[in-house]
Amino acid sequence: MSDFTGTTAVVTGGAQGIGRAIADRLAADGADVIIGDLRDPGDLGDRQRYVELDVRSESSANAFAGACGDGIGVLVNNAGIMFEASIAEQTTEQWDMAMAVNLRGPWLMTKALLSRLSKRSGAVVNIGSIEGIGSNPLHTAYSASKGGVHGLTAAMAVDLGPMGIRCNAVAPGWIDTALNKAYIERLDTRDVALAELAMLHPVGHVGDPADVAATVAFLASEDARFVSGQVIVVDGARTVKLSLPPILSPQR
Ligand SMILES: NC(=O)c1ccc[n+]([C@@H]2O[C@H](COP(=O)([O-])OP(=O)(O)OC[C@H]3O[C@@H](n4cnc5c(N)ncnc54)[C@H](O)[C@@H]3O)[C@@H](O)[C@H]2O)c1
Repeated sequence: MSDFTGTTAVVTGGAQGIGRAIADRLAADGADVIIGDLRDPGDLGDRQRYVELDVRSESSANAFAGACGDGIGVLVNNAGIMFEASIAEQTTEQWDMAMAVNLRGPWLMTKALLSRLSKRSGAVVNIGSIEGIGSNPLHTAYSASKGGVHGLTAAMAVDLGPMGIRCNAVAPGWIDTALNKAYIERLDTRDVALAELAMLHPVGHVGDPADVAATVAFLASEDARFVSGQVIVVDGARTVKLSLPPILSPQR
């Protein structure tokens, strides 16, 4: 456990999924957490409050910052969207939307909250993806935006370091969110899909939102005071496992 007592933390996209797990973990570690999201999560724990936010919009980001007040210790840029489309079928509006939420959003939120971020001990954690390193099919916009988040993280660490603000990213792999679970449960081939997913991961299973939240908590904490500009992959060794033809694989 980290100790965030007396720290105010902002989590964008914290109404559900990974963002919600991050908001719960930081609150459990003592932070006062402000969740910024398009939609109200409703049931919130102690030390959590919701403020409406659209990370695509500069006026929304500025209004959100005003509602947060000063002395923000941690900013977690988690809000993100994903969709599948071939280059031929994808519209420029879809491309722009992915960039506006996934890439411009973290930049805009950091800019809007910059004067309110604690100097000397501020921490920004961006949620990237292993798809900023590789890509699944039909994910040009998503992969490009997440690769951008990783680059943005390095650039922010360089620019904000002298102000005492560290910036890192977490690149999650397959995380078992409610949405991902529901997607798998709908499949006729559910059991095969689960077995094949497990085989992709040397650790033998997919990730949990709490796994991402634990890494965010470390990066935001004083224990990581000399860690900045890094992208920490949280994927059960999926991306470092080289593929072999199935016929040659000992795990077939
Ligand atoms: N789930 C995974 O396996 C996985 C893997 C790698 C990376 N990620 C990344 O983790 C982050 C969270 O993913 P998730 O699976 O929990 O997603 P999710 O769809 O369950 O939750 C995303 C949240 O972001 C909010 N949001 C979307 N657009 C917004 C906007 N314009 N302004 C404010 N809030 C907005 C949504 O309302 C929602 O609450 C995303 O950045 C995603 O790309 C997820």
